[in-house]
Amino acid sequence: MNVSVIGTGYVGLVTGVCLAEKGHNVVCVDVDPKKIDGINNGQPPIFEAGLEELLQRNIHAKLTATTDLEKAVQGTELSLIAVGTPFDGREIDLTYIKEVSGQIGRALLAKSGYHLVVMKSTVVPGTTDGIVLPILEEASRKKVGVDFGLGMNPEFLTEGEAVHDFMYPDRIVIGGIDEASIRLQEALYSVFPAVKLLRTNNKTAEMIKYASNCLLATMISFSNELANLCTALSSIDIVDVMKGVHASRYLTTILPNGNRVTAPITCFLMAGCGFGGSCLPKDVKTLVAQGDEERTTMRLLNAVMRINDERPDRVIALLKKHFPSLNGVRIAILGLAFRPDTNDMRESPAIPIIKRLLDEGVILKAYDPVAMEEARKLFSERSLTLCVRLEDSLDDVDAIVLVTNWAQFGALPQLLKSRGTQPLVVDGRRLLDKRSVARYEGIGL
Ligand code: UDX
Repeated sequence: MNVSVIGTGYVGLVTGVCLAEKGHNVVCVDVDPKKIDGINNGQPPIFEAGLEELLQRNIHAKLTATTDLEKAVQGTELSLIAVGTPFDGREIDLTYIKEVSGQIGRALLAKSGYHLVVMKSTVVPGTTDGIVLPILEEASRKKVGVDFGLGMNPEFLTEGEAVHDFMYPDRIVIGGIDEASIRLQEALYSVFPAVKLLRTNNKTAEMIKYASNCLLATMISFSNELANLCTALSSIDIVDVMKGVHASRYLTTILPNGNRVTAPITCFLMAGCGFGGSCLPKDVKTLVAQGDEERTTMRLLNAVMRINDERPDRVIALLKKHFPSLNGVRIAILGLAFRPDTNDMRESPAIPIIKRLLDEGVILKAYDPVAMEEARKLFSERSLTLCVRLEDSLDDVDAIVLVTNWAQFGALPQLLKSRGTQPLVVDGRRLLDKRSVARYEGIGL
């Protein structure tokens, strides 16, 4: 099929590249000419495992990139909208969605033949039918269900593993206003013959995305709330508690040969310094805001967010146990991205932790394997020294705060041993064995 993908961020670019890899002819569209040039030169503007290789294999064969949305829409039969939907502090910001909906509509004005518009961005239930549809009809002067179709196909991509998630989907949800809108999406995804397609209406498809993310956020905050109580009670370690919880047959499958397979969901049932990224915080807040608007207070999700917001305080409290005044204390932050295997720092817990420490007068260094460029955009070199190597960040520090659980940070005990230094290690992710370093503090210990 000939497909256009509008927006080449984390979601749009992965979607476009993977659909091309699967055999579709794809045009990626973005307003940012720098991104488009990079993509056309085989250089993805974001870091995602495997993306560069797939992009280079498909660019100028099955994939092209352009800033010309009109031409892209007119030359394809299906357009996926994948522009950002940030939270503006009060509610979801649909500026970009409205903008591209108008542009797609105007492109349809001059297009003969049927076209399907599919929402891939995360939007609150009701947006596709209630906001995008009238904009498309007005701008195109055409009728939905007759001249063009409208669908909603949420993404379930984990940043850092997005290419894998796209190529091996756990589910494909396709919403549509009518049979034709569903059928064309079925054709799009027929390249995944083994995957069960869930067909529904647009509003339900939108809600499935929020429900999925809010569930994960809830489990994280649940674990963190328990961690707080473990700390208060003493002699209980949240890591041991959650190990016992994970062993339940609801969370671990016991195979006939006695081997045990722990469900992937258990990685959200662990305490730490909080969730971040471009999705979980935004999606929880957005649904809470929608609940308020509908006079259906989301009490649980409100609490999920409140618990998450106070995670940085927990990290600071652990440091203050050892350094009642943090003024002049030399601290290294390990990990800046909101999770491993990505350079995305959006809503990363590292940001409020760093800000709090800077306010307290800490002398700060930081290291992240791939997020250093992003960090440079957020913090000045004067306030935060960015180290090129993990080893450099460990020189002359009084404490180390582990914020992102990059696998390579597992070598920290060994590195400290070989240098003969014993800084305090505050493990914000409970990544290390608590006995592996001389001075250890951990969340929920
Ligand atoms: C995506 C989804 O769109 C969002 O709804 C979901 O919740 C998280 O993932 P993401 O891919 O991370 O967002 O967004 P971002 O990285 O901001 O990329 C959006 C892209 O769209 C940018 O490259 C931007 O330049 C482009 N854009 C934005 C347009 O091309 N046109 C516009 O009018 C606005």
